[in-house]
Amino acid sequence: MRRRDFVTAAGAAGLALWTRGLFEGAAAASHSAIPFGAAVSDGPLQTDAAYQKALIEHCQLLVGEGGLKWADLRPSPSQYVYDQPDRLIAFAEANGMKMRGHTLAWYAAMPDWALQLKGETETSRELMTHIETVVGRYKGRIPSWDVVNEALSDDGPRVGLRDSVWSANLGEYYIDLAFHTARAADPAAQLVINDYGLEAATAKSSARRRAMLDLLRRLRDRDVPVQALGFQAHLPGNEEIDKDEVSRFVSDVKDMGLDVLVTELDVIDDQLPADIKERDAIAAKRVGALLGAILDVTRPTAVVTWGITDRYTWVPIWYKRADGHANRPLPLDEDYREKPMMRTIKQAIAGA
Ligand code: XIL
Repeated sequence: MRRRDFVTAAGAAGLALWTRGLFEGAAAASHSAIPFGAAVSDGPLQTDAAYQKALIEHCQLLVGEGGLKWADLRPSPSQYVYDQPDRLIAFAEANGMKMRGHTLAWYAAMPDWALQLKGETETSRELMTHIETVVGRYKGRIPSWDVVNEALSDDGPRVGLRDSVWSANLGEYYIDLAFHTARAADPAAQLVINDYGLEAATAKSSARRRAMLDLLRRLRDRDVPVQALGFQAHLPGNEEIDKDEVSRFVSDVKDMGLDVLVTELDVIDDQLPADIKERDAIAAKRVGALLGAILDVTRPTAVVTWGITDRYTWVPIWYKRADGHANRPLPLDEDYREKPMMRTIKQAIAGA
């Protein structure tokens, strides 16, 4: 049966049932309805015992900050370097956690050789072989994949398809190909389309919500096997969350038979006040507003933050504070103490 027929026949409820068992075992360990997880940095995972302990204490799900990105995995056309994901999945499984996969088709973190791919035949062959090989290797062990990351462009008021070697050589069809190939490689995995900038009360974010809905409708009409939309949710601290619009957006996404999840939550705090109490309170408020807007409509299948501690975060790479103070984007501070954001997340997912 084709997926669209299935959705029509069984209704959205059928799909929701199917995804409930997705991270089975993981959420049970925490007694919360929704599994919580974090992105993991490979270096400290190997060297910092306190970091390991925090991940074990708080998480039911892990995802590599890198490791499964093309640049890490594919230094040359013939190589697949599995060291990082193998280390992470071993750590996850040894501690009763599940792992998400990030990511199979993205414009960034590409090795030079792959940026040189030319023409439809070569590009589709490389994309398919990569996905078959990588998803196939972890079949049954990675229950959820960010198949396509950041498909939407970010270069002005008109939101279109993001430039990449994939879109340049295959057009929007690269998305179809990536999802169909992932579906064939692991029929049981949750296949996610993941993007950012979908939450704020700004004209830009509103245009991105519209563009994402349009894209999801086209994918549905072409029977592309997408199961869920991932909100990266790198929340700009100085922008309000548009709770009503986000709820409406989630409800439109659900009406298409899709689930939602939060994949890379943190708060970009470079524009927030220096005062730590004030800054942490605003960050927690943003997180609470986003989770509330989603939970008013549905249960996300997971809530994952992009790191667990302020000690290890990507945020200063792009959003260093002008006053020289350290960024505080994550649920634990740099000494692994829980911040208001962690309490907000726990309350939200426990109450769901
Ligand atoms: C970031 C990682 O956290 C960094 O360590 C790396 O140097 C660059 O990529 N959106 C994504 C993630 O989908 O893959 C990015 O991760 C952060 C933004």
